[in-house]
Order: sequence, then structure tokens, then C-alpha cells
Amino acid sequence: MKRDFINFYELSKDEVLEIIEYAQKLKKEPFTDQTLKNKSIGLIFMKPSTRTRLSFEVGVYQMGGQPLYITGSSTQISRGEDIKDTGRVMARYLDGLVIRTYSHKEVEELAQYFDKPVINALTDYLHPCQILADLQTIQERFGKVEGIKVAFVGDGNNVANTWLIAGGLVGFNVSVATPEGYEPSGKAVYKALKLAKETKAEIRITNDPVEAVKDADVIYTDVWVSMGQEGEKEKKKAFEGFSVNKELLRHASKNAIVMHCLPAHKGEEISEDVFEQFADVIFDEAENRLHAQKALMSLLFK
Ligand code: CP
Ligand code: NVA
Repeated sequence: MKRDFINFYELSKDEVLEIIEYAQKLKKEPFTDQTLKNKSIGLIFMKPSTRTRLSFEVGVYQMGGQPLYITGSSTQISRGEDIKDTGRVMARYLDGLVIRTYSHKEVEELAQYFDKPVINALTDYLHPCQILADLQTIQERFGKVEGIKVAFVGDGNNVANTWLIAGGLVGFNVSVATPEGYEPSGKAVYKALKLAKETKAEIRITNDPVEAVKDADVIYTDVWVSMGQEGEKEKKKAFEGFSVNKELLRHASKNAIVMHCLPAHKGEEISEDVFEQFADVIFDEAENRLHAQKALMSLLFK
């Protein structure tokens, strides 16, 4: 049966840990896995991207496959061809699809009509590939992912939602601190709590960033205004006190690291000095997108 990676929990905890380990191996030996030999992978991007697009294009190439970059406006989707037909047509040519778009439901629908692996490259609801790479980065820094504590400070967005689900599935603690009214999706919190029953992960949602960063190993942030929300001009005003800056770090443990999925809006969700202090970690995260996604594709396409 074909396997997708849309919601993160399509993988088991053991598979996530195996992917992280294999990603580390691929980082040292980039061309050893040729799982995508003679395979064509479509990369549909309805939103902009630097890291995700490049890491998938290079990753598919390194694994022996052909990446096809497809922009929203260049297909008939932009003229109203529905997802059902698009999926069925693309399945006649392609061996897999990577898609970045707005509606999460649309990706799930596409996966019903495209009978080969579909990978979520970001929706308004989740960003699962990002968190796989972040877990690889945490493994590199701490030698483990289970039992660590991640504090997400900022907007309860797609990245925050994915941290919650990943924590529940894999078994690490996640505290999300957002301003009132910007909490993560109730659906993601519910799923995370359900998964956490098995792994005993602690899942917390708070409006107090100081409380969230207490005892955290990783302090994580992301933009306050995500792609597609650019019209919400007033939004940023609500985020005063939610910057990851030197003042907030005073409340964190000395060994804590700061992570950011990028792109960053310095001076907003993260101060420039904190960003530069943790630049090594942040650009390792960006690099690990390549290795973690290759390890993921190796599992899905084998
Ligand atoms: N972090 C991330 O997904 O970056 P891009 O939007 O550049 O792909
Ligand atoms: N939350 C951000 C993540 C970008 C990688 C967005 O959706 O724009």
C-alpha cells in the first residue's frame, strides 16, 4: 500500500527515530541511497519557498530521481481544474508528489486520488517535513529526542501545531506560548494529547512565554504572520512580549538552544543578537531539511 506523509503521525515513533538516524548517515554519504532511480517526483508549490523547494529538488536528484518543480500558476489548477482530476492525471506520469499549499484538506483529498506517495511540504495547518529536520538537529545537539522539552514561543501556527503532534507521537515535552486568541489549533492539541497517552509526553498550552521557556532544552520560534495571512496588519500588535530575545532567555536554562525554521523576521519574533548567537543551530536546521527529507523519501518509496 502507498504511504503518505501529510499529518506527521502516518509514521510510527520508531520510524521517526529511524529516519533521524538514517538522515545522519545520508548527511555523510549523500549519494548512497538511489531509491528514486528512474522515478519522477512532482513538486507543486502554491506558496513561495526557498528551503523546501531547493532541498527537495537537490534531494530527489541525489537519490537518482527527476524533480519537477510545478508552480500553482503554471498548471490548470489556477484555472479551476479540480484536485480530483489533477491527482488522477498526475498519477499517470509521476511516481510521487510533494505539495505546498493553503488548505490541508486539499492535500488529503489529493492523496485520495493520487495513488502513490504524497508529501506535505506545508499547509496552513501543518509543516511536518520541517519538524523531521528539526528533530535531526536536536538529535545532533543533545544525542536524543525522547524526553527533551521544546518551548515554542509565538503564533500558534502550522509549525506550532506540528510540534505538538510530533511531541505526542515521539515522546518529548512541548510547551506552546502564544498571545490570547493565537493559540494552536484545537484539532492539533487534541491529537497531541491523544498520542501523548502512550508516550507520556507533556503537552502544555499557555499565554505566558516565561513559563513556557522554563526548563526548556529548545526554544523555538517562527514568524508572527505566516504565508497567506499578509492582510492581517493588526496581528503583530498582539505579540508584544513574545519575542525570543536576551530578556526572555534570562528565564531559560543556560544550556538551552534557540531554533527557527526560517525565514526570520529579525526584531519581531527573534532579536538579531539571539539569532546570530544561535546561527549555527539555525542553519544546521536548514541544511537538515535535505537529509531528513531524503531519509523520509527512502522509507516512503521503497
Ligand atoms: N522553513 C521553510 O519551510 O522554508 P521555505 O518556506 O523557504 O521552504
Ligand atoms: N509559519 C510559516 C512557516 C514558513 C516556513 C508560514 O506558514 O509562512
